[in-house]
Amino acid sequence: MSATFGLDIGTTSIKALSIKKSGGSFAIESLGIAPSPAKGIISESPEDNKIFSDAVRSVISSANIKQKEVNIALPESQVYTKIIEMPALSEKELAAALKYEMEQYIPLPLDQVKTDWQVLGSSTSQNKSTKILLVAASLVLIKKYETLMDELGLVPATIETEMLSTHRSLFPLVNTQSSNMIVHMGAVTTNIAVVENGEIIMVFSIDKGGIAITRAISLDLGIEFNQADSYKKAYGLNKDAFEGKIGKSLFPILESILGDIRKTILLYKEKNPNQQITQIILSGGSAQLPGIDIYLANQLNIQVVLGNAFQVYGIKNVPQEVESDALSFNVVAGLALKDAL
Ligand SMILES: Nc1ncnc2c1ncn2[C@@H]1O[C@H](COP(=O)(O)OP(=O)(O)OP(=O)(O)O)[C@@H](O)[C@H]1O
Ligand SMILES: [Mg+2]
Repeated sequence: MSATFGLDIGTTSIKALSIKKSGGSFAIESLGIAPSPAKGIISESPEDNKIFSDAVRSVISSANIKQKEVNIALPESQVYTKIIEMPALSEKELAAALKYEMEQYIPLPLDQVKTDWQVLGSSTSQNKSTKILLVAASLVLIKKYETLMDELGLVPATIETEMLSTHRSLFPLVNTQSSNMIVHMGAVTTNIAVVENGEIIMVFSIDKGGIAITRAISLDLGIEFNQADSYKKAYGLNKDAFEGKIGKSLFPILESILGDIRKTILLYKEKNPNQQITQIILSGGSAQLPGIDIYLANQLNIQVVLGNAFQVYGIKNVPQEVESDALSFNVVAGLALKDAL
């Protein structure tokens, strides 16, 4: 049995997954999924918190997960991430240096946040500097997760950010000789990362995702949310269905996401004039919108690929209904792969 399992607490669904490796290949060991309670994890009310922990508990028991050690991801939109460059020091020296320098990098009151850091990539003796990922999350948020873990009798082995999990789960697709972008589109947020020579060097989070897209269709066409959601999934940007009406209603949101992708590309080019983003890897449930890959490729003139962790790692035992929604499993797959790799 794998030592840990991954738990992704998303806005629309809670996913639990463990992956085992045997003889060099990966297979799903256990898998559970259920809708997230509407009030979410962040609610202040004890009743909502109980509903939430019950929901997570039943996902874990339905998957028959016995492990107590769990890898979890904090929502990118709720954490502050910064990548800095430091001289190549030992872990101990880095810890000492960062302890005193944190204030200068994190623009938040340090008594209200928990900070953490990790060395990105493997520094070799030839490297004169090391890239460090700094993360700060509010103590309130951390407390929510700690309380939830306590109630479920779980021990967090890893707490990372969603983008780190996605980066791990799609790493085989990353072109390590050039620069890539990972665009992870969930239900409420879209996270954008620039990956240079295999390492994340920029991360942004924007508050647009699948729910906003469905809402736009629902308002525009005057139909129920659920109906709009199924039209969105079935037709997306298809110009032939409903005289292209669906595509038209969701266009403003896609354009706004596109605008943020463009801005990120410009910012990156400005800072790194010699580098080129050669590929965009799409991830997250909303990246399954029919036609979105072609739309982005045409607009940006960059190769766009869909990132499916189950496919890239050749993971076996993927149920049919999960396979057809695979892009929404990349965060949990990255968490589950943490110790299986
Ligand atoms: N085929 C599809 N076409 C378009 N959108 C889709 C498709 N399949 C799923 N989605 C959308 O993907 C979203 C769910 O994706 P995902 O599971 O990645 O989100 P989440 O983790 O719950 O949310 P978040 O990460 O934002 O908290 C929903 O908004 C859903 O409508
Ligand atoms: Mg998510």
